[in-house]
Amino acid sequence: MSEQVLNLVVRKRVEQGEGVVILDLADPSGKNLPAFEAGAHVDIHLKTGLVRQYSLCGDPANAAVYRLGVLRDPESRGGSVAVHELLQEGSEVAIGAPRNLFPLAADASRSILIGGGIGITPMIAMAHQLTAQDSAFELHYCGRSRSRTAFLDELANAPFASCVRTHFDDEDAAQKLDLPAVLGQPEDGVHVYVCGPAGFMDWVISEARKAGYAEERIHREYFQVEVDASGESFEVVAERSGKTVQVAEGQSIVDALAGVGIKIEISCEQGVCGTCLCDVLEGEPDHRDVYLTDEEKAANDQILVCCSRAKSKKLVLDI
Ligand code: FES
Repeated sequence: MSEQVLNLVVRKRVEQGEGVVILDLADPSGKNLPAFEAGAHVDIHLKTGLVRQYSLCGDPANAAVYRLGVLRDPESRGGSVAVHELLQEGSEVAIGAPRNLFPLAADASRSILIGGGIGITPMIAMAHQLTAQDSAFELHYCGRSRSRTAFLDELANAPFASCVRTHFDDEDAAQKLDLPAVLGQPEDGVHVYVCGPAGFMDWVISEARKAGYAEERIHREYFQVEVDASGESFEVVAERSGKTVQVAEGQSIVDALAGVGIKIEISCEQGVCGTCLCDVLEGEPDHRDVYLTDEEKAANDQILVCCSRAKSKKLVLDI
């Protein structure tokens, strides 16, 4: 593990809405934590051996705690269930230092933040930071119903409460998210940020494109992605290691490489975090991640080996 690991304790644990636990993590001796910027996430190293990413949802100006909101998802591969069951008040927890793959644009004149369900978490940190910077924004929070939704009291009492709009599926039509109206015309300097379930994000992204927003002004963070591992077998050459391996149908490149003793650092295993990025020297990747931009994918010189495959019979990687 090459990243800096922080050994923290759970100072406070609160359950809210339906299946959301909010954890405040702090240094055991009360020392300030490394600074983070809105949009950052941390890797939680669970005692089960799993590593999972969760967005920091506290105020970046508060150096005493890292706040996380975790939805219990029984359909997940065990990470959120382990967080719910293992992390109680006083529990020790190892986390990676904050990393930011979802930063606020420095040049925005106005920001439209849209969070669906637990996708609200990075938006709360963004709202704090934008407030501190005196930068214009609005925060839209969509949920199935008020009673199932976490963070409502916190948002109602936040210094930016007047910028928050909530939208619930089971309430009257007038409060539903009118996306075309919210997005409006893409005036100069307006940036859109979205996080939530994949279908919700696809809807927001396609509406933003339809409204005329340029790709670089549509910012997104996926937290859950279906990985499609299907596809034919292909060969991977690890150039620097001097090893060649056949990747079987349904097998990941990471697993195939592990079989010949080449260990690639991984984290999310879903093509979300970028940890397993490798340079491609030859061959055409079949990109299945949501981390690389469309331009980066088209360049075909990098690949996320936890989930992507090959269109060509052979891939040569710089590993
Ligand atoms: S491990 Fe996260 S993108 Fe591959």
